[in-house]
Amino acid sequence: TPATTPDPHNIQGDIIVGIPKKTQTYFFFQIDGDPSLFRKALVDIVPLIKTAAQVQKDREALREHKRRHGHGGDGPGPLLKMTGTQIAFSNAGLVKMGISGVATPSSSDPKSDPFVKGQFRDAQNIGDAGTGDADNFKPAWDPAFGNANIDGVIFVGGDSHHSVNEKMEEIKRILGPSVKEVISIIGDTRPKNESGHEHFGFLDGISNPTIEGLDKNPLPGPKPIAAKHLITGQTSDANTPPVIIDGSFLAFRYLFQLVPEFNEFLKSNPIKGKNLSDEEGSELLGARMVGRWKSGAPIDLTPNKDDPNLGNDSQRNHRNNNFFYTNELTVTMGDQTHCPFSAHTRKTNPRADFTEHGRGGDILDSHRIARRGIQFGPEVTQEEANNKRTIHGRGLLFVCYQSDILNGFQFVQKSWANNPDFLDLALDNKGNKLSPGLDSIIGQNAESGRDVVGTDPADPDGKITIPRFIVPRGGEYFFSPSITALRDIIAL
Ligand code: HEM
Repeated sequence: TPATTPDPHNIQGDIIVGIPKKTQTYFFFQIDGDPSLFRKALVDIVPLIKTAAQVQKDREALREHKRRHGHGGDGPGPLLKMTGTQIAFSNAGLVKMGISGVATPSSSDPKSDPFVKGQFRDAQNIGDAGTGDADNFKPAWDPAFGNANIDGVIFVGGDSHHSVNEKMEEIKRILGPSVKEVISIIGDTRPKNESGHEHFGFLDGISNPTIEGLDKNPLPGPKPIAAKHLITGQTSDANTPPVIIDGSFLAFRYLFQLVPEFNEFLKSNPIKGKNLSDEEGSELLGARMVGRWKSGAPIDLTPNKDDPNLGNDSQRNHRNNNFFYTNELTVTMGDQTHCPFSAHTRKTNPRADFTEHGRGGDILDSHRIARRGIQFGPEVTQEEANNKRTIHGRGLLFVCYQSDILNGFQFVQKSWANNPDFLDLALDNKGNKLSPGLDSIIGQNAESGRDVVGTDPADPDGKITIPRFIVPRGGEYFFSPSITALRDIIAL
């Protein structure tokens, strides 16, 4: 029966809680031969899939372990031995198995439904570089993703390569010849103090939506959102296909980051200011591109210098996500002295910029996404740092969940990050409307290049062109079914 409240015992745990992980292996596969072989093997895979309730327990056990031993969790130090397995299917995979009823809810036409088309055919829409015209576009992707033949992904996160490999072996034994590997990708959190920081050096994974009715003690910050924005099938409509109840869409992106090049760009373009050394000016430029300092401290709260106590402070005083870009509005509307409208966090979640100006909170909530990615690739080597050039591939295995890809990932990337006119609140020195430019980090747009406005607090209309430091090399849209859908509908 349809439900308006998601069941934590039915939802895959990564969606609303997040599998604890120091490392995670993604096994992208094609269903091989007779799909019923795969569907039969699935019977023995389903018990391995961790639910939100189980992952919540794992997180509590980690907290307890950390309390007793002073380390653990996602941070530095050994983890408790644990793994979490999840599974999701592309539209191609569902079609192969004869499963119908899964589509982007807000899409009226399967031809323009990003899930039905697959990400390969959506790549031009989201600004990826490539060749060919609209009907024939081919993104410049790794061949594994560039052939659009991925039916599903199984991923295992855990405390160590050893635990994850062991679990992956077990899974592959069960699946046997019913699947063919397309590509396996290993993600690893960064070492020691960089743990939790993405490869440019900024603390990540701070701001994710909390859910009404599920998160009992949400930290101060943006209000919890209705479950229907992240979980599919949350409706009392009796015609809801059972397969979508308690599921979610997973957008995966294989994003390479050019770290030495990024560092060199900051170094050669320090923001100039009375009391700023060049080094501080470079650091400030990075912070104004992201919207947070490397420590995680939001620049809306501390615009002039990093404040590591604030950056780390999700737990003690719960302040590092409690801001709304309203500090400047009290000065003058459209001002961006604290945070540019082009900063990555402000573009991808404009908070009160949006809700305070006649746009309903529910509309903003429909564009929230739950991010669960992990880093991949090695640390920058001395040779790369010296030459200011990337030799070894590294970046982010970006994963986000939402109940609707058109409103979630695709909207955030296409209509916000890649759209130079968003958000239309910015004003120039003379009080005229100003285009903020692209998202400084992820914005990409074949038409306008990467022009970004407002990085210099003293020059709100100052425009700079930022080279591309993020290179998308693949991706796919998946559907992450509930345990009951996996067991009773998809498995045979
Ligand atoms: C936040 C980095 C790709 C959406 C952040 C933060 C960092 C970051 C450092 C701040 C930490 C936090 O608030 O949790 C990156 C890097 C990326 C990347 C280096 C690429 C390699 C993306 C993509 C999207 C995205 C592709 C979606 C299209 C968001 C959102 C937030 C965020 C929604 C939270 C904003 C908020 O609620 O304040 N990202 N990101 N990011 N990012 Fe990204």
